[in-house]
Amino acid sequence: MLEKRILLIVSGGIAAYKSLELIRLLKRQDIAVRAVMTGSAHEFVTPLSLGVLTEDQVYGDMFDLKEEREIGHIQLSREADLIVICPATANIIARMAGGIADDLATTILLATDKPVLAVPAMNVRMWGHTATQRNIARLGKDGVDVMQPDEGGMACGEYGPGRLPEPPDIAERICALLNAPFDPALAQARGPSAIPAGPLTAQPDFAPDAKRPLHGKRILVTAGPTREAIDPVRYIANRSSGRQGFAIAQAAAEAGADVTLIAGPVHLATPPGVIRIDVESAREMQDEVGRALPADVAIMVAAVSDWRAAESAGQKIKKDGSGDVPPLELTENPDILAGLAQHAKRPELLVGFAAETEKIVEHARAKLERKRCDWIVANDVSGDVMGGANNAVTLVTAEGHEAWEDAPKDVVARKLIARIGEKIGQSE
Ligand code: CTP
Repeated sequence: MLEKRILLIVSGGIAAYKSLELIRLLKRQDIAVRAVMTGSAHEFVTPLSLGVLTEDQVYGDMFDLKEEREIGHIQLSREADLIVICPATANIIARMAGGIADDLATTILLATDKPVLAVPAMNVRMWGHTATQRNIARLGKDGVDVMQPDEGGMACGEYGPGRLPEPPDIAERICALLNAPFDPALAQARGPSAIPAGPLTAQPDFAPDAKRPLHGKRILVTAGPTREAIDPVRYIANRSSGRQGFAIAQAAAEAGADVTLIAGPVHLATPPGVIRIDVESAREMQDEVGRALPADVAIMVAAVSDWRAAESAGQKIKKDGSGDVPPLELTENPDILAGLAQHAKRPELLVGFAAETEKIVEHARAKLERKRCDWIVANDVSGDVMGGANNAVTLVTAEGHEAWEDAPKDVVARKLIARIGEKIGQSE
C-alpha cells in the first residue's frame, strides 16, 4: 500500500515543541511528514529538529528561489493527502478565516484543494475571545476540520481550554482523516525518542484539574437585558448591564464547569473558557436556552423583558404630521425560567434572580413558588444595581433565606458558585 503523506504546518506557539512528538508518532504509523514553518515558529522549534525528524527539507520561505524552483508551494500541497496545522495559533486561524495569504503557510492553505485539519493551541483568553470563536466557526463552515483544544493548566499559569490536544489524540484524528489504521499501542509505546533533549522537552506539563468543585458539570447562564423590536430602529429594553451574569459565568468556568452563556445585547468581553451565544429578544433567548440543554444547573440572571410589541412593524413607523401618537400594543413574553422548570430536561438545580424594589424576601419567595425554581437570588434594584459594580443579594431557598452583605458583583458570583458547588459539586 502506498504511504500516506501529510504536510504539517507548524505555527509559532509554545506548543510547537509537541509537533516534534507528533511527527515521531505519525512515522510509527507509516505516515510520511513534510514540514512547513511560519516565521514565528522559529522562535519555538528549529528547522533542524523538524528536518531531522521528517528526514526531509523544511520549508518556510515563500520567496526562496531554490525552494520555489525545486518544489513550489502548489507542489507542496499537491503531494500531500492531508494538511495539518499543528499547533494552530490564534493568528494563523485568523489569517485562514480571512483568506489572507501573506507567507508560505497561508499561501499553501489558500491554494490547496486537500483536506485540512487545524489543531488550535493558545492562551485560554485568546481561545475564548469572540474573534477567535468567530474565526473557528468560519473555518468549520469553510470545511476545515478543527480539533477542540484540551482544557487544563497552561504554560502562562492560567487555566482553561486552549491547550494543544495530546499528540496521540492528534495522530489518531489524522489517521481517521486519512482512512489509515491507527494503532494506539504503537502511539503510546515509549521508543527511543529522536526529540532533542534540552529546553524543548522541558516545557511544563499540567494535568487537567479534576478536583475543581464543578469539574464536568454543565452550567447554563442567561445574562443581560433583552431587546424587543417595535420597528427596525426602535425597541423596548431595560437597564441591565449583564455584569452580574457574566461574573457568574466566569466564576463557574473557573470552578471547572462547562459554561454556556446566553447573553442579551451587552458590551462585555466573553469570560475565558465560556461558550457565549448572543441573542436579542426574549423568544430568541428561550430558543437558545432550550438548545443548550441538558445542563446540571441553570442560573437565569437575564433581565428578560416582560412584554414585547404585539406586532413589530416591518418598516420604520413614520409621523404622519397629524400629531396623533401611534398606539403601542404590548403582549407578554414567555417566562423562560418558569418554562425551564416544567421542561422534560429540567436542570437538577434551577436558580432564578429577582429584581425587586420592596418587600424583597416576600416577593422573592412568591416568585420561587410561582416559577417552581429551587433558589432565588433576590436583589434590591431600587439603587443603581442595574449597571453598578456592587450587589446586595438575599439567597432565598425552600429552607429559608440569608442576606449577603453588599459586595462587588464578582465576589457575589464566586460566593454563589461556591454554594452551587456545595450543593451539586464533587464531594472531594
Ligand atoms: N424571567 C424569565 N423570563 C421572563 C421574565 C423573567 O426567565 N419572561 C426570569 C429572570 O431571568 C429571573 C426571574 O425570572 O431569573 C425573575 O425575573 P424578574 O424580572 O425579577 O421577575 P418577573 O417575572 O418579571 O416578575 P415581576 O414582574 O413580578 O417582578
